[in-house]
Amino acid sequence: MPDMRPLLIFGANRGVGLELAKLERAAGRPVAAMLRPQSDGSHLQEIGVEILRGDALSPSDIEQALSRLSGPFYTVSTLSGRGEDGRLADDEGNINVIEAVEADGRARRFMLVTSMGCGDMAPYRSERAIAAFGAVVDAKTLAEDRLRETALDWTILRPGGLLSEPATGNGLLSRNPRIHGFIHRADVALLAFRALRDPATSRQAFAAVDANRMNCETPVDPFPLA
Ligand SMILES: NC(=O)c1ccc[n+]([C@@H]2O[C@H](COP(=O)([O-])OP(=O)(O)OC[C@H]3O[C@@H](n4cnc5c(N)ncnc54)[C@H](OP(=O)(O)O)[C@@H]3O)[C@@H](O)[C@H]2O)c1
Repeated sequence: MPDMRPLLIFGANRGVGLELAKLERAAGRPVAAMLRPQSDGSHLQEIGVEILRGDALSPSDIEQALSRLSGPFYTVSTLSGRGEDGRLADDEGNINVIEAVEADGRARRFMLVTSMGCGDMAPYRSERAIAAFGAVVDAKTLAEDRLRETALDWTILRPGGLLSEPATGNGLLSRNPRIHGFIHRADVALLAFRALRDPATSRQAFAAVDANRMNCETPVDPFPLA
């Protein structure tokens, strides 16, 4: 019997977060999403997602959103982007969420979606990648580092270049830090859906790529997801 405690998603109104919300609702899991006041949540409401309003750059907004949930829950964050004053959700927003969830104490499972190039993948970034999005990737690494310091049951997914195409089913997770490549947002969501249900992914960080859209100088051993 799968663990179907409610899932709280940060970043659910588009991209990977939205695809994951759809999968989880189709599987019957209760899903809540914290969206900024200006973000459209109607498509989420249509599939039965509970909308909580708040800005991840505001710790009190997150605390208030958490207070609306009853009982234990799981958390996934795909947060990315800048606030009006230039602050990043990639580090500050994610760290606010991690700290609020840790302090709340009800959610042990926490999945953070960051990016290829974070953490131990940093030495294998191309000059082009560093110039294009190095600062955002470094910000995401700060959030990863904060999550690792917690007692939460975390999993980090680091997708390659994201494409908005239907799922191929060929997504894989790997701990090889030299991997490069692309993956469809819907396939990242499928991997997240499976990883949330696989305790073997606990306290581990994985690159997420499409088996047919990746390259690597060394052999890639796909993680055997249950
Ligand atoms: N683009 C790529 O090729 C690529 C490659 C590797 C990894 N990634 C990362 O993978 C993840 C998923 O990417 P994606 O393209 O599917 O999603 P995305 O479009 O980057 O979605 C980011 C989400 O964060 C939300 N958000 C941003 N700031 C917020 C704040 N202050 N408070 C609350 N919500 C906030 C956005 O909501 P709003 O609608 O309100 O802005 C949106 O739902 C992201 O972390 C992304 O950076 C991207």
